[in-house]
Amino acid sequence: MKIVTVLGARPQFIKAALLSKELRKNNQEIIIHTGQHYDIEMSDVFFKEMGIPEPDFNLKVGSGSHAQQTAEMMIKLEKCFNSLTPDMILLYGDTNSTMAATLTAAKLEIPIAHVEAGPRMFDKSVPEEMNRIVTDHLSTLLFAPTKRSMENLKNEGLKEGVHLTGDVMLDLFMYFSKEADKHSNILERLGLKEKSYILATVHRARNTDEKENLKAITDAFLEISSEETLIFPVHPRTNKFLKKYSLYDDLDRNSNIKLIKPVGYLDMNFLTRNARKIVTDSGGLQREAYFAQVPCITLDTSTGWPETVEAGWNTLFEGYKHKKFIEKDIISKTIVNFEPVGEYRNVFGDGKAAYKISDIINEGIY
Ligand code: UD1
Ligand code: UDP
Repeated sequence: MKIVTVLGARPQFIKAALLSKELRKNNQEIIIHTGQHYDIEMSDVFFKEMGIPEPDFNLKVGSGSHAQQTAEMMIKLEKCFNSLTPDMILLYGDTNSTMAATLTAAKLEIPIAHVEAGPRMFDKSVPEEMNRIVTDHLSTLLFAPTKRSMENLKNEGLKEGVHLTGDVMLDLFMYFSKEADKHSNILERLGLKEKSYILATVHRARNTDEKENLKAITDAFLEISSEETLIFPVHPRTNKFLKKYSLYDDLDRNSNIKLIKPVGYLDMNFLTRNARKIVTDSGGLQREAYFAQVPCITLDTSTGWPETVEAGWNTLFEGYKHKKFIEKDIISKTIVNFEPVGEYRNVFGDGKAAYKISDIINEGIY
């Protein structure tokens, strides 16, 4: 089978790492990189470090408004799909690259396989929620990472072609933890000891784009830094807004807050497993915190991964609606006080999701 995989953003490169290798045993895979993420540390590093096959095409779409970015991707993808005549389009997650490829493929009547189908935040103001809903409803094969994701799909009337496979992120976490143990020296580089720091990432538009929200978060970080060391790999979106709102000065002056560029997957994996707590709005990192059994404070009101909250290892914030965040004090208190309250249960599969997905695609069960 000729499979065209469309990738564009950091979490998608990561998610493709093991499944791509598996699929290539029996199929021809062509990778199209939309160019949504383009910095070396947001893109190239993952292909090199995780052995992901180099993209066959890079559409170099880059950054832009939602409509601009999505439209340019669609125009370029349509040309590629028409000339490549794929049997199937393989997509991951919920980014604009995912949705652009979905709309383009669906209108050309090319079957779509969607890895990570079904998570829902039940908040249609979130761009990723829109992308997930569109992609799930237009896909032929839907690979759900959890039972909850399966239920969500069923509740939306999606039953055909839906498979519970487990989460490819768990496969990756298990496989690359061994690699990280061998190759990562990030703790030495940053002068850190195990379990002595909080790892923080922030990049959701509603946390970064409004000054009030981003300032509440950085002020909370400044407040807790008298007691805690924070490691903060800064996403380029966040970098842009920290500069725009002049929030870097106070952070830079504080020696307990280590601002670093985004790191590769091996260093991130090592930082995650050795953190005392994780503070994040990343869907991927929430799950990795759970896999590593590190308490997680999620800077959001809902999550696509409620299993981690129900298990007692993740906590959310109530009380902020679209564009308006809660107060700094609530953030800092929650970070300081949150402790896991439940027993760890594995709800993300057995670490063999990539094999299962590959088998289903190979057998043509759809
Ligand atoms: C995107 C996805 C989000 C995902 C995240 C992973 C959408 C709507 N959002 O958000 O679901 O969680 O990727 O990290 O698809 N920029 C750079 N260099 C880069 C990439 C981006 O400087 O290599 C800057 C640009 O100023 C850009 C901004 O970051 O405008 C946002 O990038 P964009 O890809 O639009 O959204 P993300 O916030 O990265
Ligand atoms: N990640 C990374 N380096 C970093 C920050 C995150 O490798 O500096 C990894 C993280 O471990 C996870 C993935 O990127 O595997 C999550 O991507 P991101 O937070 O960008 O997007 P989301 O998961 O929220 O869509």
